[in-house]
Amino acid sequence: MNQRIPQRAQWASRLGFILAASGSAIGLGNIWKFPYVVGQNGGSAFVLVYLAAIVLVGVPIMMAEFLLGREGQRDAIGTFSRLAGPRSPWCLVGWVGVTAAFILFSFYAVVAGWSFDYVFKSLGGRISGQSPAQIKAIFGTLLDSPGQMIIWQALFVMATAGIVSRGIRGGIERCSKILMPTLFALLFYLFIHGIRSDGASQALAFLFSSDFSLLTPKVILEAVGHAFFTLSLGAGVMITYGSYLDRRANLFSLAVKVSFLDTLVALMAGMAIFPVVFSAGLDPAAGPGLVFQTIPIVFAQAPFGQLLSVLFFLLLAFAALSSSISMLEVAVAWLVDEKQWSRIRSTWLLSLLAFLLGIPSALSFNVLKSTPFLGSPTFFDFCDKLISSYLLPLGGLAVAIYCGWFLKRTATQQQEAICCPSRWVYPCWHILIRYIAPLALTFVFIQQSGLING
Ligand code: PHE
Repeated sequence: MNQRIPQRAQWASRLGFILAASGSAIGLGNIWKFPYVVGQNGGSAFVLVYLAAIVLVGVPIMMAEFLLGREGQRDAIGTFSRLAGPRSPWCLVGWVGVTAAFILFSFYAVVAGWSFDYVFKSLGGRISGQSPAQIKAIFGTLLDSPGQMIIWQALFVMATAGIVSRGIRGGIERCSKILMPTLFALLFYLFIHGIRSDGASQALAFLFSSDFSLLTPKVILEAVGHAFFTLSLGAGVMITYGSYLDRRANLFSLAVKVSFLDTLVALMAGMAIFPVVFSAGLDPAAGPGLVFQTIPIVFAQAPFGQLLSVLFFLLLAFAALSSSISMLEVAVAWLVDEKQWSRIRSTWLLSLLAFLLGIPSALSFNVLKSTPFLGSPTFFDFCDKLISSYLLPLGGLAVAIYCGWFLKRTATQQQEAICCPSRWVYPCWHILIRYIAPLALTFVFIQQSGLING
């Protein structure tokens, strides 16, 4: 037996993989961002395009990322260097992913830190019984306290590092098996609370009764961009997670399950949040402060309000944690696979660096609030724009083009690689990955980068 080459880690079970990958996909994007972008973009028309984008662009690219990782059996950069050659320009795609995931982790931890803070505020009873003006002031005070924000950010980064340093099975998979079912249970409870409240029918109409007059090019492209972000595509996450899959995994069925869970959670979060927003007569288009400002207002007056708000912010914190571990894992896998560093050393060093990089993002809400950075209003806005508008769509576009046009495989080999027994899946995937996904992402990229205005 060859003792020199250590066996690459693999997921212990399919279920573990599905929970970890959907843990990555389900994050602040579903619970914090989805409700407010739906609100800002007029509701149902946005939701419809978002659903279409998940099916036509999201699932095929997720399959492509799983395929690349599973074939490459390395981190995102190593996968491209193994498949396309060590000096190939395609390796840049891996670099885009690792960079995007690392920067995303740095500022994601800041917003995730707010949810930690709110869990403790709710537990301490500092939210229930307050007037709307006081609740707005509580959020304002948090944003005005750099020290407090940085402490929460540090704790969040440490929690993430603690999980990732324990490895694929013992850390990521084991934690996902705890975090995700708890998250589903919490969400289910809040969802039931939402649909039983007075605003439920208004929320249903807002989310699902299609009004096509609201479909502008901007709404369409925003929906495609969000579908992409919410599925964690373009950042090397699904390539890295896919590299721990075994050869017999049915990539189509896995991508469908992960995307389905992600979509279900976003819609359920919408149905948990909008009914309470409507029944309290609040504005659904309130923007990024929506869940931090409106939800506590509603829960402050509701029976069991304190319990509901603890549950809600725990849900947010868990969702954020299961996503951030995937971001950190992308960079850690690179150091472990390519530089042969130990997992523990890689994890803590990268976490420290991400924490330091995140500090100016935390300060963007107070000390550096009026300091523009490279054309963006603040450093935080710059990082957010760089990732969501440029690096992720670019990474996804490159993955689609590489898989659709350059991955040297015969059709039968590709079909076998996807491991889907059904005959129609491969031809459909091939058309979507070759033509539809690159086209859709090119439009998103052009619109997001401001070259056209819809
Ligand atoms: N999908 C995550 C969310 O919805 C965000 C994310 C994007 C995570 C890219 C990893 C990579 O919050």
